[in-house]
Amino acid sequence: MRIAVIGTGYVGLVSGACFSEFGTETTCVDLDQTKIERLKKGEIPIYEPGLEDLVAKNAKAGRLNFTTEIASAVAGASAVFIAVGTPSRRGDGHADLSYVYAAAKDIARNLTGYTVIVTKSTVPVGTAREIERIVRAERPDADFDVCSNPEFLREGAAITDFMRPDRVVIGCESDRAREVMRQLYRPLYLIETPIVFTTLEASELIKYAANAFLATKITFINEIADLCEKVGADVHDVARGIGLDGRIGRKFLHAGPGYGGSCFPKDTIALVRTAEEHNSPVRIVAAVVEINDKRKRQMAERIIDAGGGDLTGKTVGILGVTFKPNTDDMRDAPSLDIIPALLKAGARVKAYDPVGMHEAEKLLPGVEWVEDAYKAVENADVAAILTEWNEFRALQLPRVAEIMNRPVLVDLRNVYNLADMAQAGFEYHSIGRPA
Ligand code: NAD
Ligand code: UGA
Repeated sequence: MRIAVIGTGYVGLVSGACFSEFGTETTCVDLDQTKIERLKKGEIPIYEPGLEDLVAKNAKAGRLNFTTEIASAVAGASAVFIAVGTPSRRGDGHADLSYVYAAAKDIARNLTGYTVIVTKSTVPVGTAREIERIVRAERPDADFDVCSNPEFLREGAAITDFMRPDRVVIGCESDRAREVMRQLYRPLYLIETPIVFTTLEASELIKYAANAFLATKITFINEIADLCEKVGADVHDVARGIGLDGRIGRKFLHAGPGYGGSCFPKDTIALVRTAEEHNSPVRIVAAVVEINDKRKRQMAERIIDAGGGDLTGKTVGILGVTFKPNTDDMRDAPSLDIIPALLKAGARVKAYDPVGMHEAEKLLPGVEWVEDAYKAVENADVAAILTEWNEFRALQLPRVAEIMNRPVLVDLRNVYNLADMAQAGFEYHSIGRPA
C-alpha cells in the first residue's frame, strides 16, 4: 500500500514519518521547495524530539519520500491525507479552508484508480462533504471516497501520541474506504487502540469538541488559581484533590499564563463561529476564548507589578518564549502578548529560550536575545518564567539571586516550590499559591 500526505508541516511530517514506520510507503508533499530540499537532505525543519531519527531511518529504508510534485505522489496512492494548515481566517475567526480546498483540487486532477482522500487537518463540520463535491466537480470520472481522520497529537510528544494514541477517530461512510483505513492503522489494532468509526460530521466535530474541552479545563483551573490567591489556598492541592476523581481526571489541570499554541486558540474560536452559524451557541467555549485572551495580558501586569509598577529604566529577564516546552513553535505563545506589553511599559527585555529564539526573533522586535538563562537574568530587576523548559526547573537559585539587581521571580508555570524560593531569598510570585 502506498500513501501520500499533502502538507509537510508538524502534522504532515509526523504522520508521514509514523505511517512509514508502520511499514507503509509514504510520500510527503509540500509546496515549500526549501522545506522539501532540506528534508531530502535529512534536515528537519521543526524541533520535535525523536523526529530526526525516525525520518532518517524510514527515508534510508526507502519507505519515506519527499517531493514538491503532487502528481506523482497522488497517482496510484491508496490514500491521500490532507494535512495543510487551517489557520484563523482574518476578521471573523472561522477556519480558513483555502489551503484545504486548493489541495483537494490538486489531488482531484491527479487521481488514478480508487483512492481514499482523508482530511487530517482540523476542519469544521461539512468540510469533508465539500471536498467530495469539489473533487467530483473537478473529476466526474474519479473513483474515490472522502474520510475524516482528525489528529490528536501534541507538539513535543508528537511521535508517541501518534504511535500510541488514546484512540483513533475515523469518519467514514463506505466499506471500501473503511478497509483501507483499517489496513493503514493495522499496527494500532495490534496494541488494542480503540478505533472509533463514525460519520463524517461526528468525526469533524469530535476534534473541535476535544480541543475546546481541554481548553475549558485549563481555563477553569486558571480561574480557580486566581481564586486560590484570594482565599489563601494552593491550586496544586485543589487540582490534585479534584483530579483524583476519575470523572474529572488529573491531566490538563496545570494553572498557567493561559493556553497558547497553533491549535487551541484557533480551534476554540472556530467552534464558536460554527455554533453561531448553526444558531446553537456554545457559550462556555465563547467565555473560555474571552477569558484566555484577557489572561495573557493580565500576566504582563503581574510582571509589571512585581517590578514595582513602573518599568522605565528597569530590566526584565525572560526565561522561555515558546507556547510550551519541547517545541520551537511560537504560534499564539503567551510571550507574544506579554513581552510587547513589558516593552511598552518601558522595560529593557532580555530573553532566552532553549530552541525557540530563532523563530521568536522575527516576532518580537526590541528584545535582546542571550545565550543562556543566567545571561537573561543578570542585572535584571525582575525575572519571569514563561515556559517550563526542564532546564529552568534546576537553576542554581543562589547564583540567580546574586546576579540579579533584585531577586524577584515571577513564575507563570509554578516550576518552583515556595519553601525553596524563600530559602534562596527570592521575592517569589507564582500562580494560584499563597505569596
Ligand atoms: P503547518 O503550518 O506546520 O504545515 C502546513 C504545511 O502545508 C506547510 O508546510 C505548507 O507549506 C503546506 N501546504 C499548504 N498548502 C499546500 C498545498 N496545496 N500542497 C502542499 N502543501 C501545502 O501546519 P500544522 O501545524 O501541521 O497543522 C496542519 C493541520 O493539522 C491544521 O489543521 C492543524 O489544526 C491540525 N493539527 C495540528 C497539530 C499540531 O500540533 N500542530 C495537531 C493536531 C492537528
Ligand atoms: C493540543 C492538544 O493537546 C492535542 O491533542 C491536539 O492534537 C493539538 O492541540 C492540536 O489540535 O493541534 P498542543 O497545542 O501541541 O496540543 O499542546 P498542549 O500540550 O495541549 O498545550 C496547549 C497549551 O495549553 C500550551 O500553551 C500549554 O502550556 C497549555 N496548558 C496545557 C496549560 O496551561 N495547562 C495544562 O494543564 C496543559
